[in-house]
Amino acid sequence: IPQGSDLIAEIERLKKERNAIILGHYYQKPEIQELSDFVGDSLELSRKAAETNADVIAFCGVKFMAETAKILSPQKTVILPDMNAGCSLEDACPPQKFKAFREKHPDHIALTYINCSAEVKALSDIIVTSSSAETIIAQIPPEQKIIFGPDRHLGGYMSRKFNREMLLWPGVCIVHEAFSESELLKLKAQYPTAPVAAHPECPPHIIDHSDMVGSTSAILKFAKEFVGDTLIVATEPHIIHQMEKAVPNKNFIGAPGADGNCACNICPYMALNTLEKLYIALRDLSPQIHMDEEIRLAAKKSLDRMLDMSA
Ligand code: 13P
Ligand code: SF4
Repeated sequence: IPQGSDLIAEIERLKKERNAIILGHYYQKPEIQELSDFVGDSLELSRKAAETNADVIAFCGVKFMAETAKILSPQKTVILPDMNAGCSLEDACPPQKFKAFREKHPDHIALTYINCSAEVKALSDIIVTSSSAETIIAQIPPEQKIIFGPDRHLGGYMSRKFNREMLLWPGVCIVHEAFSESELLKLKAQYPTAPVAAHPECPPHIIDHSDMVGSTSAILKFAKEFVGDTLIVATEPHIIHQMEKAVPNKNFIGAPGADGNCACNICPYMALNTLEKLYIALRDLSPQIHMDEEIRLAAKKSLDRMLDMSA
């Protein structure tokens, strides 16, 4: 495997040779974000995957994101640098259990966060992301009962926002769950004028101390526009790379975990992707996403509803 600048040059060469596009999430390491053709939140990345003319999508994110790309663009080869790049929310929602839960509540529709397996998408009515959930829930008649899974914090946040009861699946993101309220309060005392921007995957005791709540893209937009010189960022800290690029004269501080620093809030799944593994994936077209066609078609229905309703 080439090293250093040779590795980057080889990735660029293979990308051209394969007619590939590299899609990267904001939680990827800076060197991967820099090599990506497009960096975005889950909704934007799904849209890019659906629109691209490339033959190969190299997805630098986690497995459910690469699967979403395959569901929307089945004729394309979708590769993921490390197939073990999962998500605690996906793990918290096994399809068989979700199916049984749905059967127990036949009068409810299932509104499901995109952070889940293709099988769970296939069992759902409408998929949402953190940036589309609000727009979508606003279009669902108030009398319609809703199951919201697998992120109970995003579900709880929406439920409070709309003053609307929903049956919440008990999944959490281990990254956002790890922020410490007492450490955040200490940091706020140290920077009394700094606003806090939080992802809705955060638990309520973090949301309650936040000045804005939104998807990774919304947080980045806020970072570019806020008045002041310091921002406390309550989401995965790799997004700070884009903030520092866009607004180099301001100070961005990752919200702390129990140990007082933000390193414990690095997503261990996202961190599995490396430049070396991206190079191998482009060279070998492996690891590659393959999917049962029946599951893909059923999952596409709920994803298409999201894309239509959030247009
Ligand atoms: P968004 O980028 O859609 O806000 O989602 C964050 C996330 O947890 C991805 O795993
Ligand atoms: Fe999953 Fe949380 Fe990692 Fe996002 S940050 S991929 S929700 S574990």
